Amino acid sequence: MRKQVDSDDQHRIAIAHGRDRAAAEKVGFSPLRKGFILCFIIMLYLMRLFFATDFHGSETCFRKFIAAARFYDCSALFLGGDLAGKALVPIWKKNPSTWQSITHRKVVEMNTRGEVQEFEKRMAAIGNYTAVFNEDEYQQLTSTQRTAILVRLICRRMADWLDFAADRLKNTDIKIFAIAGNDDPPDLDNLLRSSSVLAFADGSIVELGGDLQVLGYGFSTPTPWHTYREQTDPEMKLALERLSGFLDHEKGTIFHLHAPPFGSGLDLAPKLDMELRPIMSSSGPVMEPVGSQAVADLIKECQPLIGLFGHVHESRSVTCLGKTLCANPGSAYSEGRLLGFITEIANQKVIDWQLTEG
Ligand SMILES: [Fe+2]
Repeated sequence: MRKQVDSDDQHRIAIAHGRDRAAAEKVGFSPLRKGFILCFIIMLYLMRLFFATDFHGSETCFRKFIAAARFYDCSALFLGGDLAGKALVPIWKKNPSTWQSITHRKVVEMNTRGEVQEFEKRMAAIGNYTAVFNEDEYQQLTSTQRTAILVRLICRRMADWLDFAADRLKNTDIKIFAIAGNDDPPDLDNLLRSSSVLAFADGSIVELGGDLQVLGYGFSTPTPWHTYREQTDPEMKLALERLSGFLDHEKGTIFHLHAPPFGSGLDLAPKLDMELRPIMSSSGPVMEPVGSQAVADLIKECQPLIGLFGHVHESRSVTCLGKTLCANPGSAYSEGRLLGFITEIANQKVIDWQLTEG
């Protein structure tokens, strides 16, 4: 033992005098040891984050998202906006033991309550909402009344999701960092804010831990469908500049935004004609950028560590804008497929990333 100490001391003296580079490699500075120490530090501070977005009411996608926390051994989950589905599928009660509905332009007959439940489950899996009406009841509803019913069902499903998440993530330190999206009614916000399992980062900056902060924002640029949260680029620029003024510049930043940056390749959507049909060319749909210039400008100015985006389901891609790693995992909610993005961060640096599907 003593002999070893003497030998090491001799090597250290040699290094101090700059005479022996081989000695430097032998005593605690070898690439192997350096690598080992670096790995140890990385393991100590490593955070693995999982991000998915645009579930549009899909029960299957949400359940897979929560399961991903343990499956990928994540430190935190990032839930992108557009949690709400778009369609209410009415079920008509024809008589005490017969129900009828229409989906994918086909009439569906149900003869037991069990069949009705099975149909409702299938609709929920792909993001639709169902409600049972008497024969003429649904036809007599105004569009405002139908929207009110849809919003109630959206909130009810979200409440169920939050209960499910709280149950599955209990006894873990895993938290969900969520934002809304342009398709999410404002009624969802209080529900999301009151959850113990979720940090609602929309319109605010929240701490992630490990010297990291999250800036969240759920608005998109105007769409042809005039949805709940839309802003022009100048409006979004003002809002984002105000918000980014509260960033702590000593911390690493994650942008958690619904609208992707304009012209980044994460924002390519089919170009639509006046009747909102995709314009086709010989090689398929004509694509055009629909992202936000304000978001692109803010990334250029702030250069956050990572940018997480959604909104454009067709634009599943990862790119770098300056020093910022930007990802849009896309969405295949109507098929119940969970498209995601995993990234590993240590010491305010991105160590690795990967697009996932499951
Ligand atoms: Fe969206």
